[in-house]
Amino acid sequence: MHEKSIELLNKAVADELYAIHQYMYFHFHCDDQGYDLLAGLFIKTAIEEMGHVEKCAERILFLKGDVEMKPASEVKKIHDVKEMLKLAAKMEFESAKDYNVWANECSKNADSATKQIFESLVTDEERHFDQYDTETENLEKFGQNYLALQSIERSKGRQARPQAE
Ligand SMILES: [Fe+2]
Ligand SMILES: [Fe+2]
Repeated sequence: MHEKSIELLNKAVADELYAIHQYMYFHFHCDDQGYDLLAGLFIKTAIEEMGHVEKCAERILFLKGDVEMKPASEVKKIHDVKEMLKLAAKMEFESAKDYNVWANECSKNADSATKQIFESLVTDEERHFDQYDTETENLEKFGQNYLALQSIERSKGRQARPQAE
């Protein structure tokens, strides 16, 4: 009945799955390099994207479609923090743009429930964009000090912890 909505929702699922993979990859590398703030931001965002997959999947099943669990892209193996943030901000910007267009398309097809899902995703992706954009600005403003501080904070935390037996 709502074939177009099912198609758009599956496109969203693919984009969200790719975002989860990419952000988890960034999380692993930030964590490995001792950048706790960014490692935390990436994993927190990945978990939110998982919630987005769930919202879309529930709607697809309601519309009697099936969920295609295929990530839209392969993970890009970026290890430079500035490049990570640049890609993440771009992904969020493009998702927000696509979901806006898809919300309008659902509206034209008289499927206001799917439209509302896409609208709620736009709000979240704009917030994600803003977070990555802010961290990019911090990195540009404070340079290596911004990253060094995150590593120092982690070392301090380790020292404060009681020694294991
Ligand atoms: Fe998302
Ligand atoms: Fe997002």
